[in-house]
Amino acid sequence: MGNVLRGKNIIVGICGGIAAYKTPQLVRLLKKNGANVRVAVTDGGARFVSELALATVSGERVYRSIFPPVDTTGTDYTRHISLGEWADAFVIAPATANTLAKLSAGLCDDMLTALFIALRPGKPVLIFPAMDGQMFLSPSVQRNIAILTAQGCSIISPESGELASGLSGLGRMPEPESIVSSLEETLHSSPESSPLHGKSIVVTAGPTREKIDGVRFISNYSSGKMGFAIARAAAKRGALVTLVTGPVHLETPPGVTRLDVESAMEMHNASQSFFKGCTIFVGAAAVSDYRPAAPYEGKMKKDDQEIELTLIKNPDILAEFGMQKAPGQLAVGFALETQTGLDNARKKLNTKNLDLIAFNFFDRKTSGFEVDTNILTLIDKDGVTTELPQLPKDSAAERLLDAIEKLYVKAGY
Ligand code: PMT
Repeated sequence: MGNVLRGKNIIVGICGGIAAYKTPQLVRLLKKNGANVRVAVTDGGARFVSELALATVSGERVYRSIFPPVDTTGTDYTRHISLGEWADAFVIAPATANTLAKLSAGLCDDMLTALFIALRPGKPVLIFPAMDGQMFLSPSVQRNIAILTAQGCSIISPESGELASGLSGLGRMPEPESIVSSLEETLHSSPESSPLHGKSIVVTAGPTREKIDGVRFISNYSSGKMGFAIARAAAKRGALVTLVTGPVHLETPPGVTRLDVESAMEMHNASQSFFKGCTIFVGAAAVSDYRPAAPYEGKMKKDDQEIELTLIKNPDILAEFGMQKAPGQLAVGFALETQTGLDNARKKLNTKNLDLIAFNFFDRKTSGFEVDTNILTLIDKDGVTTELPQLPKDSAAERLLDAIEKLYVKAGY
């Protein structure tokens, strides 16, 4: 990778968590690799690590308030602007729930948050949340992470281990060496270097609705979050992404072409038109396997009789693509199972002629429908099985795309 840090201007932002005690070592490592480092610390951060230590290792003054204690020149009041222009990358480690909330809301009441807003567009921001695992997985923190991810920030999931609370689990900040490696990788990898750059990727997402009559339908709990996360991550890697989605309440990720559909037949027809031209087809939608044979026009009237609904099979979109795909095309699917179901996932991989399948199970607490996290087991066509931990759906999507990139390169395409 060479020394990508040499001569780079890096801002290190430090928030108030116990992991802040590791940041002088982080600054020292960055300097050792040839980077120029400036440090911004929040009031909370300064309670855990001394500004004197940070100033000593960085060789520079440490920034905390937007308002300097004494300013006779007036220039210090615009320091966030000049530093925002100066920086090649911004690393926030550790990031607390409070600062994530401020960053996602666009608040800037200290130097760290003001620098985040003043940073030049397109400069990488790496955020390392560190906190108790339950806090990290709470809906508020996950919502803020989703907002920041959608803005293009890279959020690096905390690691599992012993926590300051005495509990053990998800929440630890990665070691400084690992943070430096993540930064090096980010600075080294541009979208142009991804094998997916310029490739056409079709992603299906969300539920389908199968009409019973004019006002009722059969559907499922899919929110579209997983499929949208995949589309977002693929677009960030420079892919030309088409997202065919059932009815969901989600914003279109930047750079993604979106086609809204309602029923499985509509999803089938919209997807089919891309079968020939796409390089990778990812089926993340929860497509209804059946539809009412004869939907009623208008609203069915209630009477005292029981009714019988005849359901007929919908086409299997992914299986059709799997059977038709030509060399150079990859088919990737999901398998949602209510039990462990790995064998079922393997069966789907084979019968649908897929290159990769992501198994997830349905518990609506940690994985599968609706929640912000997922627990995926990836199985490729050679039987290689990779178990991923519980991750935010955006991180799970990144890991899935890493596996797709590997397969693509391995196949020699
Ligand atoms: O949308 P979220 O709330 O974020 O939830 C994500 C998810 C649980 C919907 C997603 O992770 C997931 O598992 N999607 C597939 C769900 C599913 O329908 O699984 P399945 O085992 O029934 O289908 C297997 C594969 O065939 C899937 O890739 C599916 O998209 C595809 N399929 C199925 C039926 C059909 N008629 N056409 C298809 O393309």
